[in-house]
Amino acid sequence: MRIILLGPPGAGKGTQAKTLAERLNLPHISTGDILRQNVSGGTDLGKQAKSYMDKGALVPDNLVTRMLEKRIGEPDTKKGFILDGYPRNINQAKALDNMRTQKNIDIDFVVYLDTSEPVIIQRLTGRLVCKTCGANFHIKNMPPKIDMLCDKCGGNLYQRTDDKEETIKTRLEVYKKEVFSLIQYYEASRKLHRISADEEAGIVLNKIVHLATAKAQK
Ligand code: AP5
Repeated sequence: MRIILLGPPGAGKGTQAKTLAERLNLPHISTGDILRQNVSGGTDLGKQAKSYMDKGALVPDNLVTRMLEKRIGEPDTKKGFILDGYPRNINQAKALDNMRTQKNIDIDFVVYLDTSEPVIIQRLTGRLVCKTCGANFHIKNMPPKIDMLCDKCGGNLYQRTDDKEETIKTRLEVYKKEVFSLIQYYEASRKLHRISADEEAGIVLNKIVHLATAKAQK
């Protein structure tokens, strides 16, 4: 099963992808997570990507596409994957199509997590992420059991540097500029399913699992 999760910053792509990956026993591939690992590891890619990420801009397509191509060439992706954060524009969607043609694989479905702007701002300004395992929490919506410590691994929680209100605004502008043509692209291939992601995480998850089950039974 190969699933793409699309949606604005804060739609819950990472939250849903992590749970789905466990449920369906598939790798979760998040371009944002891989880039952040490169930044904290001080790699060449991380050094090149950092200034774009800090501003809330997209990292250049050639860098991200090369990085993704490498990741989906790894053995654990043979059984499928859940892709979160890629593609971000038509260029990337076409690059992904080239990769899948070369590897002779298909995308089963694309979920668009439709989210309203006030919800996005509330979610991102309150998000906490585990430094050790990357699990997501939220100060109000999904608070950790112990203040600033991860429920799953006990790691320290932190606020992402791009979750400041000013940077969130830039990320949203970048997103809005690209999203319409991306939606059209996947609507044309009849792979796109819109889901309201303003609802509680468990409700959103059930809708995606329902799509995956229907697809698996075909
Ligand atoms: P990336 O990490 O992909 O960030 P993003 O797309 O902005 O998405 P977020 O991670 O902010 O949100 P999310 O939808 O995953 O929400 P989450 O589940 O965490 O990218 C970061 C940067 O890397 C980009 O700006 C860019 O510079 C670069 N980059 C990455 N990919 C790139 C690419 N392909 N090309 C070029 N550049 C790229 O949830 C948010 C919060 O809400 C959490 O606190 C969570 O607990 C809470 N929450 C989630 N769902 C719910 C719910 N249903 N109800 C209540 N609370 C919820």
